[in-house]
Amino acid sequence: MDQAWQPSGYTSPNLRVYPWMWLWDSCFHALIWAGLEDERAVAELASVFTWQGDDGFVPHMGYQANPAASVPMWSRSGASTITQPPMFGHAARALAASGYEIDSRMLDQIERGLAYFWRYRMGDDGLIRIVHPWETGADDSPRWDAWAPFPFDKAGFDAAKQTMVGALEVTAAGSSSTSSMFNVASAMFNALVAFNAQEFADLVDDAAWRTRARELAAAIDRHWDGVTWSDAGDHSSAAVPTSDALLPCLVNRHRLTAVEEQLFDPDGLGSAYGPRNVDRRYPGYDSTGYWRGPTWPQINYLLWVALQVRPAAAARLADQTVRGAWTSEFSEYWDPDTGAGHGARPQSWTCLALLMHPEHGS
Ligand code: GLC
Repeated sequence: MDQAWQPSGYTSPNLRVYPWMWLWDSCFHALIWAGLEDERAVAELASVFTWQGDDGFVPHMGYQANPAASVPMWSRSGASTITQPPMFGHAARALAASGYEIDSRMLDQIERGLAYFWRYRMGDDGLIRIVHPWETGADDSPRWDAWAPFPFDKAGFDAAKQTMVGALEVTAAGSSSTSSMFNVASAMFNALVAFNAQEFADLVDDAAWRTRARELAAAIDRHWDGVTWSDAGDHSSAAVPTSDALLPCLVNRHRLTAVEEQLFDPDGLGSAYGPRNVDRRYPGYDSTGYWRGPTWPQINYLLWVALQVRPAAAARLADQTVRGAWTSEFSEYWDPDTGAGHGARPQSWTCLALLMHPEHGS
């Protein structure tokens, strides 16, 4: 964490592969800094709002270390024009619980950041739309295979995602609220918006935000199919059983029994080093492919938060994740069966395992 800390006030996810600021990564980093009892927790959370627009929009990437570097991809200096799960509601609530001060300016930034989704991304079905697969942070998920070459091919899908950047409709303020190619109500994304709205409501004790969170949770739950929550929207994506698509259990606790069963089912998502991101029975399952099977620590952390009301399951998930983080030498993601690391190494968010460690805080 120390080595990846940047003079402009955030932690790079990885110095070589991911030098810039990423929205949900930095929210996770803030939680990690708080776990380390380090003041950088608040600074990192503040940095997430560096490029917030007047419309409330929070970009998924900040290029404060070199603003010109964003222009070739985003035709805009300093930041991207898409967003990512607004984990700042949860981060702020957790930091406040650890005794850090969240000032009124930051509360306002959080509120405007969340309100953006209701104002500009809400569909008639009560679900929030995303305009690019990158907005979920689950880039190459089989859920997006309708937009990928068949059979799946990484280079081909990378090209498709570039084309989808061109299909964004960007406002003068630099935010995208629609796309001519991709308008999906992702179960995972909606779950994380609802969860962060609920966390914000708890932080400021606000009934209107609590209601919004509850209504969004109910809208998501209309798409529970007995195994997973499916996505909705203009082009419904495939309801592939993935661990991230179980995140609506953060706000729909009545499903926790079904979710817990799946997370530990050795024939499906379950494995020794934490749940696979994709069910092993899915034909395209790939234990080392980027978002096509491996275990991701930040998804496990969120599922662990949901499982706090079931201490035995939470402890089991924590144990698996800590072992995966350690065996993979703090890799970005790992092979669920062997714990062998893949992707960037070390990846800052994998330090979330610290918060899950049984001895943390004792
Ligand atoms: C990759 C991940 C995304 C993450 C980023 C930085 O793009 O898919 O979720 O935010 O890397 O770690």
